[in-house]
Parts: sequence; structure tokens; C-alpha cells
Amino acid sequence: MNAQNESRKKKLLFLPGDGVGPEIVEQAERILNVVKEQFELDIEVEHDDVGGVAIDKFGLPLTEEILNKAQRADAVLLGAVGGPQWEHLDISVRPEKALLTLRSQLSLFANFRPAILSKHLKQASSLKPELVENLDILILRELTGGIYFGQPRGVSKVNGLREGINTYRYNESEIKRIAHVAFKAARQRNKKLCSVDKANVLEVTELWREVVNEVSVDYPDVELSHMYVDNAAMQLVRNPKQFDVIVTGNMFGDILSDIAAMLTGSIGMLPSASLNSKQQGMYEPVHGSAPDIAGKNIANPIATVLSLAMLFRFSLNREDIALLIESAVNKTLSKGYRTQDIASEATDKNKVVGTKEMGDAILQSLNGLLGEHPLTVNHHSNNKVVGFK
Ligand code: IPM
Ligand code: MG
Repeated sequence: MNAQNESRKKKLLFLPGDGVGPEIVEQAERILNVVKEQFELDIEVEHDDVGGVAIDKFGLPLTEEILNKAQRADAVLLGAVGGPQWEHLDISVRPEKALLTLRSQLSLFANFRPAILSKHLKQASSLKPELVENLDILILRELTGGIYFGQPRGVSKVNGLREGINTYRYNESEIKRIAHVAFKAARQRNKKLCSVDKANVLEVTELWREVVNEVSVDYPDVELSHMYVDNAAMQLVRNPKQFDVIVTGNMFGDILSDIAAMLTGSIGMLPSASLNSKQQGMYEPVHGSAPDIAGKNIANPIATVLSLAMLFRFSLNREDIALLIESAVNKTLSKGYRTQDIASEATDKNKVVGTKEMGDAILQSLNGLLGEHPLTVNHHSNNKVVGFK
């Protein structure tokens, strides 16, 4: 990818994928089109197939051509991949492989998963409102290493028995680079970083802890702590507000970010950004393809819309537009609109809306904000990762 020169045309690649992917990406694109026109942005959007749809069309979850396009794009917006019809396939050609290849080929090692509870959604969390009120944490997940990519891997026959193996490995430079990103992110927030590992059992995470400690010397203003992953999972549901930034490896980050997502009411709310060292990235909702609700116009498009906001923030260097989109989402929630996953007892039944109608409502809020002079978008959050709250 190539996002250096501010003035030239920007190329975005939209990969809607499977399940609810197409319908939620469509809503994000409607927002993009309005913003594009309003700010006269020179942005070109291309669409391609990845995941299960690509398997059906091309026999592969990610073709070489589409991978090349992703490498040339300024940013990628991905919906979701996977579904039961492709689960019988070998792991090396399943829809998820597209995601993993994009992550590793584009070197998107830093995965930002902010979990922020909108003040309008206290009721939607599975935890008591006082435990999650004003929740604003960031999980920074290492995304191109660890057990997801370690070799050797596979299933083979050993002494006549089938045996499965995966390898959990990190070298010190992989740990160092994610640690630096984490300390820098903490610096822009409440200056607290918790590194999560399993250093009491796994040597690879003993090294993780050692290297994070070494990097911490460069960041004396950031308070560093360490926590074992089992305890971190418990603390996230016991007292989530003790955290500011959490940094962890690929698999622990996968698990902890689903827990964090639920604290905010619905996994349908959480965006993510996966960046390489040039701030070029792939943006996707944290949730999956949800095949059970696909095509029914009930999926929540907010995580994808907020992922688009992160795309403007990180890859297009337009903090103003990121804040505008986040404010539009927030305003929509303040008006009472809810998709069914975030509706509660208190929700006005007439305002429980479908995917497209939520898109309409966000567009209406956006147009309302654009009509205001001067624009009243504020930094809602104490962090620069996602301003939505
Ligand atoms: C995620 C997802 C993916 C992962 C799957 C779909 C491969 O769960 O982005 O959290 O495990 O990384
Ligand atoms: Mg996951």
C-alpha cells in the first residue's frame, strides 16, 4: 500500500466478504459518498470479493490479483468472512485464510481494538451500568505472529495416531515493535499500559514480558503492569475500568477483544484498525460474518461505519472527518435509534430499526451536522484512537 502523498487521488479497496458483510459495508459506503462530495475528496473505491464468495467464484479465498490490489490501495475496508458452507474445507483454503493472508502480506502487525461504551448504551451492556459507565479501553493485539502463524503446524500421523500441532513463537523484534506502538498509544491516553501474557507457563511469553520491560525504559511516563491472561479475562468482567491500554499477542488478543466487545453492549459496535509501520491499514468490524442473520437487514452497521471513521483518522489523515462520522453515530444513538442487538427494554419500539434504516438515520445525523455552522464535532473521547463515545 502507498499512502504518502496527501494531494494525490486516494484508492480504497472495499472487500465486503460473506454473511452480513455486504449489507454493513454498503451502509459505510453511503456515508463515504456523502463525505466525499461534501469535502470534495479525490477518492476512488474499488470492490472485490474475498472469503467464501471468492471461493465460490474463483476457487480461492484470496486471489493474487486482489492481494496485489490491497497492497496498492491506501486502505482496505473489510466486512467479514466465513460461513457454515465453507467450514468443511481444509484450513489452508477456508474463507478466514483470506483475512490472515491480507494481515500477514500487508504486515499489519498492530491491531487496534478500542472498546468504548457510548453513554447512550449503558443499558445494553451485560454488566451493571456503574461498572461500564464511561468505559474507554484499547486492546492492542499483535496480528501477524504468535500461534496464528508459527511453524510447524498441521495434523499428521505420529506412531499411528493423529496428532495436531501449532507453534506459539515470537522473536524479540516482533515484540518490540508492538510494544512501542502500545506505549505510544498509552501516552496519548491515560498513560497506563497492561501487558497480558502467560509468563508463568509459556516461555515465549516470558520473553514477551522481558522485552516489554526493556522497551518500557523509553517511556518512563507510562505506568506499565503485567497480567496473566486468565486473570485479565476475569478482570475485564470484574472491573474493566481499571484498564487503559492492553497489549497482548495474537491469540490472547482475539479472545480478550471479544470479551471487551460485549462490555460495550454488542459486538456490533466495535471497529478495528490493523496497521503496518507506515500507518497504512485494513479496517474491519470486530464481529464476524453472522451467517444466521445475513441478508435479513437486521445486522448492526455501526462497527463498520466506525471502522470507516478510523480509516479516515489513520490512513487518510483526516481526523476532522473521523470525528464527524463518530459524532453522527453518536447523535443517531442519542435520538434513540437502535438495531435489535443494542435495543433494551427502554427503547422506543418504533426506533428499533434495520441495517439500512440505521444507515439512513446516521446519514440524516451526518447531514444535520454538516448543515451546522460551525461544525459541532468535538473530541468525545480522551484518546486519539477513536473519538466515539
Ligand atoms: C478476529 C476474528 C479472526 C481472528 C478470524 C475470523 C480468523 O476472530 O478478527 O478476531 O481470529 O483473528
Ligand atoms: Mg476474533
